[in-house]
Amino acid sequence: MNPTEGKNRRPALEAGTQHSPTKTPFYRRLIEEPSGRSEKGDELRGWPSPGIDAADLLAPTRFHWSVPQQKRDCARMKYRRLGKAGIKVSELSLGSWLTFGNQISDDVAESLMIEAYENGVNFFDNAEGYAQGRSELVMGKILNKVGWPRDTWLVSSKVFFGSAPQPQKPNQYGLSRKHVFEACHDAMNRLRVDYLDLYFCHRPDPETPIEETVRAMSDLIAQGKVLYWGTSEWSAQEITQAHAVARQFDLVPPTAEQPHYNMLVRERVEKEYSRIYDELGIGTTTWSPLASGVLTGKYNNGVPKETRLSFQANSWLRDRFTQEQIGKAGRLGEIAADLGISQAVLAVAWCLKNPRVSTVILGASKIAQLKETLTASDAAEKLSPDVLERIEDIVQNKPQIND
Ligand SMILES: NC(=O)c1ccc[n+]([C@@H]2O[C@H](COP(=O)([O-])OP(=O)(O)OC[C@H]3O[C@@H](n4cnc5c(N)ncnc54)[C@H](OP(=O)(O)O)[C@@H]3O)[C@@H](O)[C@H]2O)c1
Repeated sequence: MNPTEGKNRRPALEAGTQHSPTKTPFYRRLIEEPSGRSEKGDELRGWPSPGIDAADLLAPTRFHWSVPQQKRDCARMKYRRLGKAGIKVSELSLGSWLTFGNQISDDVAESLMIEAYENGVNFFDNAEGYAQGRSELVMGKILNKVGWPRDTWLVSSKVFFGSAPQPQKPNQYGLSRKHVFEACHDAMNRLRVDYLDLYFCHRPDPETPIEETVRAMSDLIAQGKVLYWGTSEWSAQEITQAHAVARQFDLVPPTAEQPHYNMLVRERVEKEYSRIYDELGIGTTTWSPLASGVLTGKYNNGVPKETRLSFQANSWLRDRFTQEQIGKAGRLGEIAADLGISQAVLAVAWCLKNPRVSTVILGASKIAQLKETLTASDAAEKLSPDVLERIEDIVQNKPQIND
């Protein structure tokens, strides 16, 4: 099928029309008649049904999200605002790095997305660079097949690394206006959507002025191709600069940062960004909560077959982990056992305890893994201050913040 014909395409608006919900007769009446009754006291036709207070629909600080038809109760999933933005993300989300279009079959990828969605996950993370675009192709095929209402899920892409095979030509990667535009269109086509909910600059690009990138992102938003843009692994200084440029030229600033965050990697999220959360209102979509599986304890006694770090293509990743880190992971097992949860769940729940985290992006190569980590929301309640202190004693890496 032509990707532009996917189920998730929005019907085109007639030329010259603009959709403005607040201008519809329904909303006009909502504003003019918040009681839901006409002057004569009659109930207005088409008014929110009994039990729904019209004032609630207007109140800016309260919201209702429609829970999609679920096979099972997903009331346990919690949703967090993405920084100061109005958009809500499930506190657990699903990513596709090294798995979709790569380590796992498309059938497993589909089962993972369905499992996630049925448990309340509303955000699926992707990037042009994941499996050279194949990850987005697989996700797009699944989104098109399952046909979930477009207003019940968010999808992201990231630009920087390029999707073209190596050696890439000079404009096939980076954050130039040209590559940002072309990568966005390619991602929309592969994902079979007519807009990206979130679009991240996957790394800072020292060869492109920040103003050029901020303007390109802002223009994509103005064109309706992107709803929110963000950064990934940018320093606090670079994010602050992007906001300053946006303010200076009346452009849209980044809404979120996608940082590495887990019990072994904390400095940026807990220290470097500590001031900019409130100053700039950014949210975070954090990655690698299990440190690629190390925090599950599965590598305590060597590298088991068919695991991420066992693959030759990932030897660069394997080399990043030290024996000291693997030793810490081993000792965390005791705490998990005392709480009656797995180490994987302990590691994800620990990330959730940080209120600066908007969503923890999970990765999984098997359904059983995802079923397990999706229970972390409940488990987070077990992480009392005493438990968190025991974890600090083992990891010994709490960033020191000097005010
Ligand atoms: N912005 C960035 O630069 C960036 C970088 C990396 C990732 N990300 C995003 O963040 C997402 C998550 O990162 P990640 O995949 O590195 O997360 P992770 O949670 O650190 O690692 C996920 C891997 O751990 C193993 N695993 C997961 N659950 C398990 C369980 N319950 N028991 C045992 N093993 C388990 C699986 O690998 P095996 O089964 O193969 O061992 C799985 O693929 C990515 O998909 C991507 O969307 C972003």
